[in-house]
Amino acid sequence: MKILVVGSGGREHAMVWKLAQSPRVPELYCAPGNAGIESMATCVEIKADDVAGLQDFVVTEKIDLTVVGPEAPLALGIVDEFRKAKLKIFGPTKAAARLEASKIFSKNVMAQANIPTARAQSFDKAADALAYLDRHELPVVIKADGLAQGKGVIIATTREQARQAILDSMEKAVFGQAGKQVLIEQFLDGEELTLMAFTDGKTVAAMLPAQDHKRVGDGDTGLNTGGMGAYCPAPLGTPALREQVAREVLQPIVDIMVRLGSPFQGVLYAGLMVVKGTPYVLEFNARMGDPETQVVLPLLKTDFLEVIEAVVEHRLDQLAVEWHRAAAVCVVMTSGGYPGSYRTGKPIQGLPSVMTGSATVFHAGTARRGNAIVTAGGRVLGILGRGNTLADAQREAYRVVRSISFDGCHFRTDIAHRALGAQA
Ligand code: AMP
Ligand code: GLY
Repeated sequence: MKILVVGSGGREHAMVWKLAQSPRVPELYCAPGNAGIESMATCVEIKADDVAGLQDFVVTEKIDLTVVGPEAPLALGIVDEFRKAKLKIFGPTKAAARLEASKIFSKNVMAQANIPTARAQSFDKAADALAYLDRHELPVVIKADGLAQGKGVIIATTREQARQAILDSMEKAVFGQAGKQVLIEQFLDGEELTLMAFTDGKTVAAMLPAQDHKRVGDGDTGLNTGGMGAYCPAPLGTPALREQVAREVLQPIVDIMVRLGSPFQGVLYAGLMVVKGTPYVLEFNARMGDPETQVVLPLLKTDFLEVIEAVVEHRLDQLAVEWHRAAAVCVVMTSGGYPGSYRTGKPIQGLPSVMTGSATVFHAGTARRGNAIVTAGGRVLGILGRGNTLADAQREAYRVVRSISFDGCHFRTDIAHRALGAQA
């Protein structure tokens, strides 16, 4: 069986790595992939958002199944195009992916399904947004409606900051079309949790709860990033809470999408804020999280390929999705300066050629230059450690992190601190 994974980050490396463990031994391809993915899949130079190019490749190479990693091709309608051409693909249609691609659409769906979420109001005129802002308590959250590569959310502690965010988004168009409409949202003070689920449009199979670390610095300080590390299972996501979110959030969303004529198939990601034990939805994503995937997939006991096929063939109700009773911690190593500007092309030293123990190196922004592997992005590597407990997994991850280096390398030393308290 030939499988194409679309994307090039740590998430896609983890997906390829997991698929490579399938007893069905699929032949793996990745577009465009990276220097780490190369060791387990044939990488092809087609960009993740080149839908026509990907379709041509899949037809020519007779790929049996395509698995989409990032949001951009989903928002462009890759699933709709592939389905029209009768090509098997894992992911939601463009209409269903609006749960991620439009925060206003997502809010409206949540309101219709009675999902607990932060109170919000949408605006398409800056003057109206500014007038509403005058009456809003602080802090206040300003969100660009569309996809803005994780930069479209501003938490403003002063009215001036909020005003600026509204003007930047709606008038200066710093996010382009994505920021022409904004949401002004109530600030929720709590602890964040990610719960993802596989769904075939009808049945929901919740994954294990994970926690991402979005801020660049130790102790959750500094700028927001794409994610500096993650761990799973997050103790905050107790079995009772996981059940509650599956029942009160994930299943109702899947059900209402059917009623709206846009059934959702693939992975539904709920970004939650748990406030005094009560989960509120901050956002939905229409795909797996990065770096959450790097800690959740390693704990999946059922063959990932079986799960994907059950989703694509609408028979998830007939599959028991099982998980290992273990723990996983992933520490992201970034280029110096990230999430601001940074340099690339720095040789990476100390990459283990053979993994020992229960650690794994996932590549994110890497490239091959001759025999060397060099940095090629902001997030460069994600080091996974596994163990019976989070403490074991954390120790294992940092053991390998500390053996790898490159010029300007940065990483957080406290991934999983909310669960473990102590620094590594
Ligand atoms: P989003 O893309 O909507 O998840 O927002 C990005 C990040 O902003 C989230 O992971 C939270 O850390 C923060 N955030 C978003 N909405 C809120 C809110 N209503 N209250 C507090 N923090 C928020
Ligand atoms: N880790 C957050 C995301 O994937 O959007």
